[in-house]
Amino acid sequence: MKILVVGSGGREHALSWKLAQSERVQTVFVAPGNGGTASDSRLVTVEITDPAALADFVVSEGVALTLVGPEAPLAAGIVNLFRARGLKIFGPTKEAAQLESSKDFAKAFMQRHGIPTAKYQSFSDAAQAHAYIDANGAPIVIKADGLAAGKGVVVAMSLAEAHSAVDHMLSDNAFGDAGARIVIEEFLAGEEASFIVMCDGKNVLPLATSQDHKRLKDHDEGPNTGGMGAYSPAPIVTPSMHARVMREIINPTIQGMARDGIVFTGFLYAGLMIDSEGNPRTLEFNCRMGDPETQPIMARLKSDFLTVLDHACNGTLDTVELEWDRRTAVGVVMAAAGYPDSPRKGDVIDGIPAETPECVTFHAGTQQVAGSLQTSGGRVLCVVGLGDSVKMAQKQAYETVEKIHFNGAQYRRDIGWRGLK
Ligand code: AMP
Ligand code: GLY
Repeated sequence: MKILVVGSGGREHALSWKLAQSERVQTVFVAPGNGGTASDSRLVTVEITDPAALADFVVSEGVALTLVGPEAPLAAGIVNLFRARGLKIFGPTKEAAQLESSKDFAKAFMQRHGIPTAKYQSFSDAAQAHAYIDANGAPIVIKADGLAAGKGVVVAMSLAEAHSAVDHMLSDNAFGDAGARIVIEEFLAGEEASFIVMCDGKNVLPLATSQDHKRLKDHDEGPNTGGMGAYSPAPIVTPSMHARVMREIINPTIQGMARDGIVFTGFLYAGLMIDSEGNPRTLEFNCRMGDPETQPIMARLKSDFLTVLDHACNGTLDTVELEWDRRTAVGVVMAAAGYPDSPRKGDVIDGIPAETPECVTFHAGTQQVAGSLQTSGGRVLCVVGLGDSVKMAQKQAYETVEKIHFNGAQYRRDIGWRGLK
């Protein structure tokens, strides 16, 4: 079978790396891919990003199944387009993707269906937003309604920060249409976890749990980023927490969407905040896998991923039982100089060792330029180590990180710290 993976990040490298291991796979195309997918002999990079052109490619190449990594093409309706042309694709429709593409939609949905989340109000008028902030006090959280590539959330610890976030989004139009409406919500304290499931329209199959590290620097300091590392499993998601999240958040979400007339297919990612009493609330939904969560999750998946995807497209996920590597996987992101504000491009990357059973390096912002590998984006690599404990997995990952060099590389030295006992 020929498979197409859409996207260019570390997530897509990990998904295509895993798919390429399937005995039933003949070719994995990655569009547009990155420097890592381009240099992997099992993968074929395709320079196409337009959804209609991708559908033409799928027809002409005889691609059996398409898997979409990032949110932008999903929100733009790539699944609707492929299905209208009779092509097999795994992901949510444009309508279902609103759970991620509009925070206002997601919040109203959660409120309507009794799904635990922070209390909120939406605004398009700056004066009303300012008044709401004054009435509720800080800390408080300001979010652009639309997709803002992970930059549309301000966790304001002071009133001044909150007011300036409103001005930035509503008055200065910093995110264009995506910020023309904002959600202002209650600040939730606690520990975060990423809870990702696959849905086939009827059945729900949970993947291994994970935990992201959003801040740039050690000890969760510095600015928010797309994620500086992740590990799996997340010990905070105990079996009873897992059952509770399925019962209170995941199942009501899938059922609520169905009641609202929207069949959910694809990955559903609930970003959770678990408070000190052990109550989980939903911070956000994504309608795709996480990046970098996918990298440690795929490193731990033992089952044949193509078979799983096939069942997901055929509505038979209830027959699948996933098998996971019992080890912990720790993924350390190496980011470019200047990330997250203005990542520098063009630094030469050296020293990436060959994959071993204990460590694999996934590429994100890399490209091959005249035979040399160079940085081309904010998050450059994600090095995933596997070990019998968080500590041993960290050791595997960091030994490799230290062998890799590019000027200005930034990485955290504490990925997995919450899982250390
Ligand atoms: P989101 O894109 O909505 O997940 O927000 C990005 C990050 O902002 C989350 O991973 C949290 O670290 C933080 N965050 C979002 N909403 C809240 C909230 N209501 N309370 C505290 N932190 C939040
Ligand atoms: N790592 C967070 C996300 O993918 O949204």
